[in-house]
Amino acid sequence: MTKLPNKRNKRDRGLILTEEGLRKLQDARNKTINEKGNRISYEKIQDKIIEKSAGREDLCVTTIRKIFTGSTAVDIGSLECVFDCFDLELCESDYTKPSSEKTDIKIQPTFLHNWGKAPEISVFYGRLQEQKKLKRWILKEKCRLVTLLGIGGIGKSTLAVKVGKEIQSEFDVVIWQSLQNQLPPEEILTNILKIFISTLKKHTVIPESFDEKQSMLMKYLTNKRCLLILDDVEKILSTDDQVGLFPTGYERYSQLFKFFGEADHNSCILLTSREKPIDIIHLEGEAAKVKCLQMRGLNFTEGCQFFKQTGQFTDSEQEWETLIEHYAGNPLILKMLASRMKQLPNSGIIEFLDCFKQGSSMLEEICSLLESQFQRLSLPEKELMYCLAVNGKTFSLKDLVENLVTPCSKVLVLKTILSLLQRSLIEKNGEHFVIQPVMIEYAINQSIDVSSAN
Ligand SMILES: Nc1ncnc2c1ncn2[C@@H]1O[C@H](COP(=O)(O)OP(=O)(O)OP(=O)(O)O)[C@@H](O)[C@H]1O
Ligand SMILES: [Mg+2]
Repeated sequence: MTKLPNKRNKRDRGLILTEEGLRKLQDARNKTINEKGNRISYEKIQDKIIEKSAGREDLCVTTIRKIFTGSTAVDIGSLECVFDCFDLELCESDYTKPSSEKTDIKIQPTFLHNWGKAPEISVFYGRLQEQKKLKRWILKEKCRLVTLLGIGGIGKSTLAVKVGKEIQSEFDVVIWQSLQNQLPPEEILTNILKIFISTLKKHTVIPESFDEKQSMLMKYLTNKRCLLILDDVEKILSTDDQVGLFPTGYERYSQLFKFFGEADHNSCILLTSREKPIDIIHLEGEAAKVKCLQMRGLNFTEGCQFFKQTGQFTDSEQEWETLIEHYAGNPLILKMLASRMKQLPNSGIIEFLDCFKQGSSMLEEICSLLESQFQRLSLPEKELMYCLAVNGKTFSLKDLVENLVTPCSKVLVLKTILSLLQRSLIEKNGEHFVIQPVMIEYAINQSIDVSSAN
């Protein structure tokens, strides 16, 4: 019996869009925005096609979706109709025959990641809970604005890079932007838009006014799923007495942060900051898609890794624990200590522990790290830090307020406690507030320096 030739699949004669054609069409769709700021749906495209090309009622939503995803071959007439719907001309370079016999060809979307000057991570210890929480907030709960808070060196930027790189494939665009240079809001918007334009290969002119720039950013954040990481937010916060406010010339950051947290977009903005901006306090809430993660130090096992990396240390576990607890597991401080201890002949911590007992365990680099945060404090904050430092590691509000006589001083103490919390210099633990041993030491050293200078 003669074998019949295989019946050719109708779709084998079809075409798919090239990368150029796909980009052309997707750009046109992204520009067609409804009143809610969302791009036109496939159903609406079908309505428009029916309106424009009489006789194409047969072009179903599934075919339209196939064209936009570039996944399956379709006939040239369908391609022409969809292009025409957006007033685009279908050129030869816009389509091609599927290259293999298999017609279901998946075109991998191109992910556009711009990590700019984000720190490189060579080693990363622990933080399992934090990573899990961040991923849940960003990917599952689709939070719009997430802030990592904590004192200098605690690992905010490192955690942002670690998690960001692990989840980057879930986003169309990833942008890392540091606020280290204290650029005013208009300039930072321009910078971010420039990155969007160049990564998305667009030919768009950036508008002049702040509001227009913000609307342009809104379109990107709505039409694409973006992860925008803004590092070092405290650099654009006021150094005046009241913590968390934006100084003159920077007030529009407040508008920008509100827009990030409240506008109905599809993206996530991840901030890192030593101080909590007032706007974030107002936006944060259980139901809102705005979350904050207060970062604490690494635990004992994680902290030990820094020292194991740099050499063999022979001291007992309890000695290690004392050392790591003293520095509250601050990774930057532990890193500094590990490299200094490596220089000691014995590579031991006994010498360091002896120094604590004599109250002079501060390495210069640790001092300057703490100084960069202390120098931003108001006078009442400095006084309260000193008062807390001489009175011990934990305290309750009741202990503190009980000895104060005037209502005015009680209000001031409450306000000061709140701002120290906002600066991550004290932590809340149930009914009590906790001040880290290294902070106690620094505050006491500072007050000695000031009194001996007078
Ligand atoms: N989980 C970690 N594992 C290993 N190293 C870490 C970890 N977290 C932080 N580090 C290291 O500690 C140092 C300080 O971390 P990082 O710069 O992220 O702190 P930060 O909180 O962003 O500080 P700043 O407020 O100064 O910006 C870096 O050198 C980093 O490599
Ligand atoms: Mg940082």
